[in-house]
Amino acid sequence: MGRLQKILIPLLGLVLAFWFYSARENFKPEMLKGKRVIVTGASTGIGEQIAYHLARMGSHILITARTEVVERCLELGAASARYVSGTMEDMAFAQHVVREAEASLGGLDMLILNHVGASYFGFFDGDVEHVRKLLEINFLSYVAMTTSALPMLKESEGSIVVVSSMAGKVGFPFTVPYSATKFALDGFFSSLRQEFTIQSINISITLCILGFIDTDRAVRAAGAVLRELPAPRDECALEILKGAALRRRELYYRYSSTRLPLLLRDCAAELLDYLVRSRYRLPGTPGTPSPAL
Ligand SMILES: NC(=O)c1ccc[n+]([C@@H]2O[C@H](COP(=O)([O-])OP(=O)(O)OC[C@H]3O[C@@H](n4cnc5c(N)ncnc54)[C@H](OP(=O)(O)O)[C@@H]3O)[C@@H](O)[C@H]2O)c1
Ligand SMILES: *[C@@H]1O[C@H](CO)[C@@H](O)[C@H](O)[C@H]1NC(C)=O
Repeated sequence: MGRLQKILIPLLGLVLAFWFYSARENFKPEMLKGKRVIVTGASTGIGEQIAYHLARMGSHILITARTEVVERCLELGAASARYVSGTMEDMAFAQHVVREAEASLGGLDMLILNHVGASYFGFFDGDVEHVRKLLEINFLSYVAMTTSALPMLKESEGSIVVVSSMAGKVGFPFTVPYSATKFALDGFFSSLRQEFTIQSINISITLCILGFIDTDRAVRAAGAVLRELPAPRDECALEILKGAALRRRELYYRYSSTRLPLLLRDCAAELLDYLVRSRYRLPGTPGTPSPAL
């Protein structure tokens, strides 16, 4: 066993080092210069950082957010920056954002779906209406925007970026409705990718599997009960854009807390479930609703 580990661990390290290095080497910020990009949920958190990175790279940006973000994007060098505000509970708004991109940018190269509705952190409370509402915000609006954007993305051979979570690949306690919406995204977009391939439609779909990130919302909701430190949101945003520009099928950040544990899913599912549960520090029973995740 000891000898096996001595061989396996350095080998794994080498494979990973190669993987990271080759992905980093290929990416150039110029890849996104002048690209027409929609970023949803960019008023805070990861979406805001994605908008700032795109601005520095000189993209044309349309975000769903408040004004301050737009001004900062223009200062940072965005080719252009606009915003539309409204709620993604309303499918008409989702479609309106895409029409706005068509009218103001004359097309679309990348659709970054990132927004997420507020939910609670605690045991499933049996509120079915909340699950329906969250599915509308976190899932159906993604479907509606994708559908509206398809003609423009076909034209540009563009990209769809779907921001998901570890909670969309493996069952997570205390975020049952949220986890359900993230699993739904995997089903829809992975199946759609299959159809694109069959039909030779050259639109890339990048599903982003994120671990714990240091956004205000996530830290407020889970910071006290999670045993791990959150990863930085600006680095996370940059990794998402690299994965998108390189047209990767899935993006894992951070790799060590997402891709590696997921290797257990097919061969040792119960061990993975146990590892997920062991991330939580549980003083009593979490049941207090808190504003997010
Ligand atoms: N942070 C993490 O640890 C973590 C981990 C895994 C995955 N993720 C994923 O990363 C993405 C970004 O998360 P984040 O932590 O950056 O979130 P965040 O800081 O809470 O940002 C969420 C964004 O969604 C918008 N939003 C909320 N409700 C909306 C609604 N009904 N209609 C339209 N927009 C709405 C918010 O805008 P306003 O509130 O200004 O309206 C905000 O811009 C999400 O898809 C999340 O699931 C995050
Ligand atoms: C798909 O589109 C990308 C970006 O335009 C391009 O680099 C790639 O060569 C295209 N692939 C095919 C098979 O046409």
